[in-house]
Amino acid sequence: MSLISLLGEVFGSAFEELGLDRGYGKVFPSQRPELGDFQCNGALAAARPAGQSARSLAVAVAERAGQDERFGEVLPAGPGFVNIRLSDRFLAQWVAEMESDPRLGAPRADAVSHVVVDYGGPNVAKPMHVGHLRSTIIGDSLARIFAHLGHRVTRDPHFGDWGTQMGMLIMGVQERLPGLPYFEEGRQRGYPPESPISLEDLSELYPEVAAACASDPERARAARRATLELQEGRPGYRALWEQMVRVSMESQRADFARLGVEFDLWYGESTVADRVEKMIRRMEGSGRVTESEGATVVEVAEPDDEAPLPPLLLRKSDGAALYATTDLATIEMRVDDLGADVILYVVDARQADHFRGVFRAARLTGLAPCRVGLEHVGFGTMNGPDGRPFRTREGGVVRLGELIEMVAASARLRLEENDLAGDYSPEERDAIAEAVGLGALKFGDLATHRASNYVFDPERFVSFSGKTGPYLQYGVVRIRSLLARAAAENLAPGALVPPSRPAERALMLTLALMPEAISRSASERAPHHLAEYTYRVAVGFTRFYDQCHILSEPDPVRQGSWLTLARYTGEVLTMLVELLGIDVPERM
Ligand code: ARG
Repeated sequence: MSLISLLGEVFGSAFEELGLDRGYGKVFPSQRPELGDFQCNGALAAARPAGQSARSLAVAVAERAGQDERFGEVLPAGPGFVNIRLSDRFLAQWVAEMESDPRLGAPRADAVSHVVVDYGGPNVAKPMHVGHLRSTIIGDSLARIFAHLGHRVTRDPHFGDWGTQMGMLIMGVQERLPGLPYFEEGRQRGYPPESPISLEDLSELYPEVAAACASDPERARAARRATLELQEGRPGYRALWEQMVRVSMESQRADFARLGVEFDLWYGESTVADRVEKMIRRMEGSGRVTESEGATVVEVAEPDDEAPLPPLLLRKSDGAALYATTDLATIEMRVDDLGADVILYVVDARQADHFRGVFRAARLTGLAPCRVGLEHVGFGTMNGPDGRPFRTREGGVVRLGELIEMVAASARLRLEENDLAGDYSPEERDAIAEAVGLGALKFGDLATHRASNYVFDPERFVSFSGKTGPYLQYGVVRIRSLLARAAAENLAPGALVPPSRPAERALMLTLALMPEAISRSASERAPHHLAEYTYRVAVGFTRFYDQCHILSEPDPVRQGSWLTLARYTGEVLTMLVELLGIDVPERM
């Protein structure tokens, strides 16, 4: 049980003894640490049903709970608050228990769910952009958090490989290289084993054909035709498509590997292409599927919708499947084949309407029974200094690789400024700069609540002070080197004793709140809470380290306790940065 829940039990009992609901006993970390560690505001809400003043209720509750010797002080305050201070002995004991737990006191889910995290979401041929980066960073952290809680997690990037952009590319290649065997009428097999185009070709080609289709209806029609023929299985198109997907995936895999992100599945829209027809027939049973001007749609509007949802297009009049179609078939696959309990879609908030429609259709047609959670975990944009979605100076899409180079270069300068890693080999220095750059990038993203936009500021993100990834990484490295120095001097960690300095006590208290930080990030699908908490732990350690001179402390019992506190803080920080997906270099 977490400390907060334990306190809630104690206060719940106090309310219960007064004939009131236990629920009033909820306890929160104090907003005013000078008045107490925690506070309980239940008396304010309970006053009316209890038929007495909140103040007198607070007095009665404080009196009862105050009997508990785990508290140093329980005082009514203001109109009906109760301020709670733990006894130093109890606090140290509590942290000692967390410290001796193999899971470091981290929470575990009561019931295991199968959580599918849909994130990353790159598209064939279109280069990954910063939106995919946000999805990757947030999704990866959520996947790590759920797995750490003990859930079964399936990480699936839902690669965009089946939509109109594929037809556009096929048309583009055909226009340029019409003599390739892929386009020969009647040919069924015998296509070249290597790709006729490189990734560079693809990423040049895509913007060109996209622009052409936007301005020229004739070519747009040709692209749609090619999409349909691909989906219907024209052998040459399939063979060319396979090559494009392979070339593109190879580069995406390398990008994800560089980010330290792994997936369990590498499925795309096309993975479910073969189930679409059967799924549509199954959906027809709901009476929600209709024909509209030759197209197949699902009626998703419900009488009490504030703004009626428009019908969802399943199949265009030419028969082609769309983004929503493959998303629905993917839901069916995840529910029926994978046994998902909840699917989290970590996707740009601007796709909210898409997911609203898709989820509604999945419910109404029975593809997703209500026991299966479908959630769009939306996020805002990463902006440039001009406050608009981040782009290159020329206004183009920023490649992931370039972005990483950028933060790594800033990180290298910062390392030099701070006299770090100066005498290491060039290879190690490069590796450290890359890890610091990535840590900066990831933390810069996770430090803001996902729903908000934020400004990409490499200079600030790579700083070793302030709320940054490098500050956390450096914090972990510093604790490690402190422990190494202590070990070299034969100083051994000992039992935790009650705190004797304010910063030491504050650090213990912060550590005791770790389970809530993790659970909250999971329940709100918001790693930002964990990022914020991790920073608080790091700051708490810095203050403790400034106030308590561990290596020169004359009292061996106190020194041993401080070493244990330092070691435990280091272990907790290591666990937390891992949950944020941030790597820590061995040394700096
Ligand atoms: N490929 C899509 C895009 O780039 C994101 C995919 C998100 N996941 C999903 N199941 N729709 O916008």
